[in-house]
Amino acid sequence: MNVLVTGGAGYIGSHALVALIEANYDVVVLDNLINGSAEAVMRVEKITQRKIPFYEGDIRDSNFLNSIFKNHDIDVVVHFAGLKSVGNSVKNPIEYFDFNVNGTISLVKGMELAGIYRLVFSSSATVYGDSSIMPLHEDLPTGEPKNPYGRSKLIIEQMLQDLAKSNSRWSIGLLRYFNPVGAHESGLIGESPQGTPNNLLPYVAQVAVRRLPKLAIFGNDYDTIDGTGIRDYIHVMDLVEGHVKAIKKLEKSGGLKIWNLGTGKGYSVLEMVDAFESVSGRNIPYYFQHRREGDVAVCWADVSLAEIELGWRAKRDLLDMVGDTWRWQIQNPEGYR
Ligand code: NAD
Ligand code: UFG
Repeated sequence: MNVLVTGGAGYIGSHALVALIEANYDVVVLDNLINGSAEAVMRVEKITQRKIPFYEGDIRDSNFLNSIFKNHDIDVVVHFAGLKSVGNSVKNPIEYFDFNVNGTISLVKGMELAGIYRLVFSSSATVYGDSSIMPLHEDLPTGEPKNPYGRSKLIIEQMLQDLAKSNSRWSIGLLRYFNPVGAHESGLIGESPQGTPNNLLPYVAQVAVRRLPKLAIFGNDYDTIDGTGIRDYIHVMDLVEGHVKAIKKLEKSGGLKIWNLGTGKGYSVLEMVDAFESVSGRNIPYYFQHRREGDVAVCWADVSLAEIELGWRAKRDLLDMVGDTWRWQIQNPEGYR
């Protein structure tokens, strides 16, 4: 089985390559390297001892896509390619709709032309909006995402739902990620943010290696155990193993399915900082700042559907997530650069 991995040189995509190869899939990578690194793919080759065909180019370029589909007999596409910074999406909304929404339109058109109808899409818990019901179950109505990034994910979800309804040949999995963190246990691949990290754990990791002086904690007046925000952090290797299970499920069933990928357990910002300090043995200086606009207080997943339908559940715990992040950071203080 041949899997085309769009965005395979990025954080989650590169880890997915490892899981797919370990599950005996042949992978082909497409990435325009706007936020990814060819080095990540080379390191996956080192981990897996496999040569990976890599195409540098853009999913919005239909000629480029068609040539990949001509060269390789692709059975399924796992679609990670897109832009993901919430803050940048507020500053450059049209760019986000172009990369994410137009990118996906171009991809599914190319797939239809090539007769490929199996797709796994990286969605996000952000589509639930600011729900008062926890844990978040797939049956809950989607909410109103608070930024263009979140809206682009919701639009793509709705578009793919219409597509699946319009033609029964399509078999589509929408995977709603909670908060992916961690790195491959080898420490060879991990998250390598460009510029100052937006997300909590990469920021904490850079404070630990003294690339950044202090962590700003966004709000300590939420209605939570210690006043800081709670999220469902999931180890990236658990997350990508969920993709393998989703592909296997889509091989047997058609239509469109939605699955949450989380652990079902939430941790506060202060709990994450404590865990990082004890694993790394480094002090993480922090201070409290006002709440970040658009943040929800709490967010965690109901993971029962993925457990029942995919036979998948996250295996790695908080110490694995933090320990693997730390190993990656200490071995690669400048990321891939
Ligand atoms: P990433 O930026 O590390 O990876 C995305 C990859 O796609 C990059 O390598 C980038 O160069 C490539 N890319 C972007 N636009 C492209 C285009 N038009 N053509 C070809 N390649 C393109 O991000 P990630 O963290 O690995 O996220 C992967 C996917 O998961 C994204 O769609 C993201 O929105 C989604 N997601 C991520 C998170 C998270 O916290 N990391 C949470 C929810 C959903
Ligand atoms: N936080 C800080 N300081 C920081 C960064 C984050 O206190 O420097 C806090 C946030 O306020 C939040 C928690 O840490 O309470 C997690 O924040 P992240 O930025 O790591 O993650 P988010 O939950 O905001 O967002 C992530 C992805 C989005 C995705 C969303 C879905 O980055 O792409 O999960 O729930 F849409």
